[in-house]
Amino acid sequence: MKELEITAKVDIYNYDELSIAEKSLINKAKEETQKAYAPYSHFRVGAALLLKNGVVVTGSNQENAAYPSGLCAERTAIFYANAQYPDIAPEVLAIAAFTNGTFLKDCVSPCGACRQVILEVENRYKQPITILLYGEDEVYKIKSIRDLLPLCFEQKSLQSQTIFDHQSI
Ligand code: THU
Repeated sequence: MKELEITAKVDIYNYDELSIAEKSLINKAKEETQKAYAPYSHFRVGAALLLKNGVVVTGSNQENAAYPSGLCAERTAIFYANAQYPDIAPEVLAIAAFTNGTFLKDCVSPCGACRQVILEVENRYKQPITILLYGEDEVYKIKSIRDLLPLCFEQKSLQSQTIFDHQSI
């Protein structure tokens, strides 16, 4: 038996310690929470995605009476950016959440499906995306979604041969 230890690095900042550009992106994500359509969860999420050309694309969660038909803020922003600017790499993603009349004290963290989509975008444009997770008390800064998605499944996983190709079960 061997053991694999997986570590991830997260830098934790006070909002005031961030750069002007980072604060501005976070503020856009915070503003975006107010445009969420969240009549079921009342949990309003905003995402702001800075592209390499300086454009900021924003998105909010869009819910549906048939719950799984809704979409998270992160994917709303990312898919719009990829549709409108297919040749421009996304570089920084800021996320904020607002519920019960206030922004979350602890930072909001993207769901598994959004992590998978962010990974696809990093791979598509061959560069990491810095992720800023906003909380009223502190802001987490992560250099790549890989830190939030260890042992990930990606395009190259489809090509790698697994033991099941050779063994009859
Ligand atoms: N949600 C997001 O938009 N982003 C996340 O990272 C977590 C969850 C949304 C989905 C749903 O509309 C609501 O928050 C409650 O889960």
